[in-house]
Amino acid sequence: MSPDRDNQTAEFDAIVLGAGAAGLFCAGEAAQRGLRVLLVDHGRKVAEKIRISGGGRCNFTNRDLDPRAPQRHFLSANPNFCRSALARFTPQHFITLMQQAGIAFHEKHKGQLFCDERAQALIDWLVERCTRFAVQRWQPAQVLAVAREQLPGQDICVPGRFCVQTSMGEARAPQLVVATGGLSIPKIGASDLGYRIARKFGVPVVAQRPGLVPLVFSPAQQGVDFAALAGVALPVRVRVQPAAARPDMRTAVVFDEDLLFTHRGLSGPAILQISSYWQPGDALCIDLLPGQDALALLRAAKAGSRKQLVNIVAQWLPQRLTEAIVAEQPQWQRPIDQVSDRALTALAERLQRWQLMPNGSEGYAKAEVTVGGVDTQALSSKTMECRQVPGLYFIGEVVDVTGWLGGYNFQWAWASAYACAQAL
Ligand code: FDA
Repeated sequence: MSPDRDNQTAEFDAIVLGAGAAGLFCAGEAAQRGLRVLLVDHGRKVAEKIRISGGGRCNFTNRDLDPRAPQRHFLSANPNFCRSALARFTPQHFITLMQQAGIAFHEKHKGQLFCDERAQALIDWLVERCTRFAVQRWQPAQVLAVAREQLPGQDICVPGRFCVQTSMGEARAPQLVVATGGLSIPKIGASDLGYRIARKFGVPVVAQRPGLVPLVFSPAQQGVDFAALAGVALPVRVRVQPAAARPDMRTAVVFDEDLLFTHRGLSGPAILQISSYWQPGDALCIDLLPGQDALALLRAAKAGSRKQLVNIVAQWLPQRLTEAIVAEQPQWQRPIDQVSDRALTALAERLQRWQLMPNGSEGYAKAEVTVGGVDTQALSSKTMECRQVPGLYFIGEVVDVTGWLGGYNFQWAWASAYACAQAL
């Protein structure tokens, strides 16, 4: 696959906009089936998000994915939409392709699969596949306009090919695949092009917000000096307490993962996961001793010790965090045998039901994904084609399907790309 420069109108069977995970995989699949495919991207490089993902090793899928219960690992206004594509292209399908390509990988915790070496090996393989099947690439190419020809029919104008004007020329094809991703990390090429194309063709778009993103807090409001705690990490259980009833929160969403204090608030896998469900006005409830009974532990300690309470709690929590918590109440700054039962109960509550109200998130600059996107009600779950606009497809993150942390977003990119490519 090489960048081509062509100032004439070029004809293709399908044009794919966006050479990220979904676009590259779809273009290769479709070309392998014999289609003449054009891949257009405004970036100099392809698949920048694969390159930076998973700490440079790309968590490319997750073995623990049950397509029959997509809401276990995916968010969407239409939770069952992704079932069909995920069932037809499973993690095992992608694993087999990785094995055939000779790309070594390993499992980290909770079914997450990472490349052994740099993620570039995965990008090279996706690109090589496109090259082998003669995908043409226009890159870097600005997309200037997307329109549809109107062919004169008997009484009405019949919609014809899609016409894409770019800074490298004009291309036409009867099928247009939009794989331009979400809004996260604009500095490596994210844009709202996909949503604009959807609106132009009358396809509804679900409101977007940053997901898998650190949350920020006002220290004055929370009584916590986040900057002083920056770097402290510990396993927690976290859940959202929605300000109002929400359909996506019908069942309690709880994450048992690590939490990390940052200068401005909280991050780490626990917070990234819950951030996708959090909306302004919602509180968080954090259990700093998941799976334990803090009150029972404190009572047992009181019965057999005269140590300072801070030294007891520091056996269970990081020292800096313990000191910050104990400093909140004078009655906690004593030997444990002098602390009233009431004060111990209040401390247990503080440790296991810590309520706090995020001020916001670090936004798209730090978010790993975009929640929301092209409304799945408008798409076929079998092919990703728009019901009202034959020939127009949306795949990957631009669609209102958002995965949990752990390889689920790439699996959605592969699965939706595959479903689309089979239909082109
Ligand atoms: P993607 O964003 O990959 O590609 C979109 C392409 O469209 C880009 O090449 C872009 O340049 C192009 N484009 C955008 N606007 C355009 C325009 N106007 N004109 C032309 N081209 C345009 N997921 C996961 O499963 N495991 C992981 O380990 C991680 N880790 C991770 C880390 C970080 C830091 C981020 C930001 C994200 C992740 N993710 C992840 C999420 C994952 O990267 C993401 O869900 C997929 O890349 C989505 O694939 P798409 O192909 O849909 O979009």
